[in-house]
Amino acid sequence: MSARNSKMKKGFFISFEGGEGTGKSTQVRLLANKLTERGSLVHITREPGGTELSEKIRNILKTSSNVDPITEMLLMFAARREHFIKSIYPLLKQGYVIICDRFYDSSLVYQGILKNIPIEQIMQLKEITLKSFEPDFTVILDLPPSIAKERIQHRQLYLDDYDMMSENEYNIIRNGFRKISEAFPFRCKIINASGDEKKVSSRVYKAVKRFIPEIEGRPL
Ligand SMILES: Nc1ncnc2c1ncn2[C@@H]1O[C@H](COP(=O)(O)OP(=O)(O)OP(=O)(O)O)[C@@H](O)[C@H]1O
Ligand SMILES: [Mg+2]
Repeated sequence: MSARNSKMKKGFFISFEGGEGTGKSTQVRLLANKLTERGSLVHITREPGGTELSEKIRNILKTSSNVDPITEMLLMFAARREHFIKSIYPLLKQGYVIICDRFYDSSLVYQGILKNIPIEQIMQLKEITLKSFEPDFTVILDLPPSIAKERIQHRQLYLDDYDMMSENEYNIIRNGFRKISEAFPFRCKIINASGDEKKVSSRVYKAVKRFIPEIEGRPL
């Protein structure tokens, strides 16, 4: 059941993925602006987060260090389930274009590929919490770790556990997302995230239109 195929749903679900500092939040905002200008009803959200409870879980994760990987995975999926049931699914039925900053691919990469939790176990949790739901389109922002790190350091004073990762870990994540795009080619596209925001945004928009041709000029 992708958002597009289900008879119950009129909207579209687009996720943004990639390592820290690749420009996800920036590009989510720019895509939302473009689609809103063209008449779509757009909802921006993020993971973990998107509901009151899920944002509380986000806060717990953000302010805790050395969290056991399985605990972290369970909290991520608890937040995701709540987000899906209380917000994503109802809004899709109403015809919203939902643009989500990270989704379950991040669990596959961070808890699976980086923290070595077997992918089958993560997919079991995905099945329990999301059933067969898949994004209509997933943008994977790809950037060399050195540039991503530079962007992050300019951005914030407080760096969390993931922001403090080594270049090696960044590369594991980058390659992890490449593997995701190979595993789900029908919904994923790797986008070169270097260059200025506008340049990246036009690459993103071109890809969105190719994967979801119905998206443009859709009066909702
Ligand atoms: N194309 C770009 N060129 C230069 N700087 C950029 C570009 N896109 C975003 N930035 C800047 O880089 C920083 C990180 O961008 P952003 O917060 O969008 O990344 P992110 O992928 O959401 O990071 P995180 O995973 O940590 O949330 C911000 O300060 C942002 O203004
Ligand atoms: Mg962000």
